Amino acid sequence: MRFVPRRRPVPSGLPLALFLALFLALSCAAPARAGHDAPAGGKAAILVVAFGTSVPEARKAFDDMDAAVRQAFPGMAVHWAFTSNIIREKLAAQGQVTDSVPAALARLLDAGVTRLAVQSLHAIPGEEFHEKLVRTVRGFGGFDKVVIGQPLMSTDEDMAAVADALLSTFGPLRAGGEALVFMGHGTHHPANIYYPGLQWYLEQRDPLALVGTVEGTPSLEWVVARLAEKGVSRALLVPLMSVAGDHARNDMAGDEDDSWKSVLAARGIAARPVLQGLAEFAPLRELWLEHLRRAVAGLDGK
Ligand code: CO
Repeated sequence: MRFVPRRRPVPSGLPLALFLALFLALSCAAPARAGHDAPAGGKAAILVVAFGTSVPEARKAFDDMDAAVRQAFPGMAVHWAFTSNIIREKLAAQGQVTDSVPAALARLLDAGVTRLAVQSLHAIPGEEFHEKLVRTVRGFGGFDKVVIGQPLMSTDEDMAAVADALLSTFGPLRAGGEALVFMGHGTHHPANIYYPGLQWYLEQRDPLALVGTVEGTPSLEWVVARLAEKGVSRALLVPLMSVAGDHARNDMAGDEDDSWKSVLAARGIAARPVLQGLAEFAPLRELWLEHLRRAVAGLDGK
């Protein structure tokens, strides 16, 4: 405690007991939380943040990730938050309460956590990541240190690593002549550029590996045209998302006329959907874990 008035002489007329009482009162007025001059320490924790899913079968992806995080960081408390309010409301109606990011941050502060590594399970640093995670975390005071782990695809090296992991994971699942089609979410946010970026990295490695998106670029139309051009008649469809939730089960693999499976079938391409999220596969989980390792290591510095 820097402010202890050691050098100030005890007023001669003041009894020692009164001086001590004053000293204690002043000491207690200091903030209870460790300040800049306090030795490093305090409680550290991990907060994993995903968009969320209300599909019970899809939860396995988060369970797998949770187990991997706990194994990689034994002794650190691991908490979860979902950024989607709609998903959290749906789950709450079924009696499953999941924290939003601000609710999780408040809970962690209450629990005495002073240093926090926040890991995004988003695929790209788009709107969900920036608006619902980064903005909220940055605006939330109270922690001594918070480090945010980046989404799956953030740097150029990430793109190459993701392309490698996707091909080593899904390549062996393919039948002969089958194209690999990854379905990303896509967004109006500038971070949509990661999808055409990934396409470039994939085609350096495998000309039959393509990326399309539900809401951005490249489109399904583009993917279909490329497959037709290459004379492909079969494709393995893989969701490029941490979980195989509603988009994977309906937009990608659903029986409606406008699902990816149906659109491809209408063009003579038999599609086999994979109903597992990326977080269910160790090589992809490892890339998110690597980002989290960097975030946790960052908690030690100033
Ligand atoms: Co969506």
